[in-house]
Amino acid sequence: MTYAVIYFSRTGTSRRIAEKIAKELSVEPVEVTDNMDWDGTLGYMRAARYAMKNKDVAIQTRGKIGEVDEYIVVSPMWCGKITPAIRILLQELPKEKVRLIVSSGGMIYKERDGYLSVLDIMKKDKNEDRQIDAFVGGLKNS
Ligand SMILES: Cc1cc2nc3c(=O)[nH]c(=O)nc-3n(C[C@H](O)[C@H](O)[C@H](O)COP(=O)(O)O)c2cc1C
Repeated sequence: MTYAVIYFSRTGTSRRIAEKIAKELSVEPVEVTDNMDWDGTLGYMRAARYAMKNKDVAIQTRGKIGEVDEYIVVSPMWCGKITPAIRILLQELPKEKVRLIVSSGGMIYKERDGYLSVLDIMKKDKNEDRQIDAFVGGLKNS
């Protein structure tokens, strides 16, 4: 199996998750960025508004996403949704080949249909490393 690990991160959690998984799979993680400023309180409020209203952003990928068997995509949850950058990215990927990982404070991601798999990594559970180990272990055994 070949994999690409792709992520967007505002404050580093999704980046850390993606980096750990990529290391286990011996691939370079690919960061998705956008043209927005999400920093600080104003950035937080902007992020909430963009997520809730499904507003579009212009995305760039730092690194190359080649054709692979499965795409592991890590996104923070913003107001119950995946981030605008990842929503746009997913328009370009075959959903049935996407293993989505949603990093959140404590909510489960609801829109799970069509993905190869969806994993919630929630801060409140304090089990990030165990979740990652189980996820990667599952990939290696499949
Ligand atoms: C605008 C905004 C909205 C958020 N909404 C939710 C939410 O609805 N549910 C939740 O559990 N966490 C929510 N969070 C928390 C993040 O999903 C969580 O801290 C995530 O791990 C951050 O990932 P990052 O460090 O990669 O940016 C929100 C964070 C932001 C900035």
